[in-house]
Amino acid sequence: MQQTVMTLAKETADDWWEVEALYDLCFAPGRSALSSYRLREGVDPIAPLCLTARDADGVLAGAVRNWPVRVGGQESVLLGPIAVHPTRQGEGVAALLMQRCLAEARDLGWARLMLVGDAPYYQRFGFERLIDVIMPPPTNPDRVLGLALTDAAWDGVTGTVTSLRD
Ligand SMILES: CC(C)(COP(=O)(O)OP(=O)(O)OC[C@H]1O[C@@H](n2cnc3c(N)ncnc32)[C@H](O)[C@@H]1OP(=O)(O)O)[C@@H](O)C(=O)NCCC(=O)NCCS
Repeated sequence: MQQTVMTLAKETADDWWEVEALYDLCFAPGRSALSSYRLREGVDPIAPLCLTARDADGVLAGAVRNWPVRVGGQESVLLGPIAVHPTRQGEGVAALLMQRCLAEARDLGWARLMLVGDAPYYQRFGFERLIDVIMPPPTNPDRVLGLALTDAAWDGVTGTVTSLRD
């Protein structure tokens, strides 16, 4: 893997549209139709867990955002979207963002995170399939993954994932 110098920073208001453009580039058209977007609508992201990665020239290479959700009445972080510019993929940028994100979430006192994604990628960070945690359809249950930041944080936490608005 190529080693690249990246600067991670908290996303600012000035970064917003640049990050949106990166997501538009990296995800299939219609990304906002995904059920995870319904859970985010009208809810503020968790600002300290929204991060950018910029190269030595200040060019945006990757970004991650996180929102709070409820699972069976318990709050959880819904991690994502995370994306890395196609020209910077495979350099460990997403791994840097993930590691920083998990460390910050732990420092902030969050007990559990979840995401919808490919287990073969996210299991390297400790994410495992969540049984009996139901994302609004259409979501492949095999892609619903969780990570406990404190002991047994997902034990007994089951049910439908709902928005903080509900
Ligand atoms: C997924 C993504 C964020 C990874 O970013 P990245 O900076 O390239 O990731 P890293 O450099 O940390 O890791 C690269 C490794 O992950 C692997 N990988 C990437 N995506 C993967 C996936 N979906 N499933 C399994 N492995 C994957 C690569 O093959 C590579 O493997 P290697 O280390 O054995 O060479 C990036 O490919 C991306 O932006 N994709 C488009 C948007 C997307 O799908 N986001 C995730 C939504 S859940």
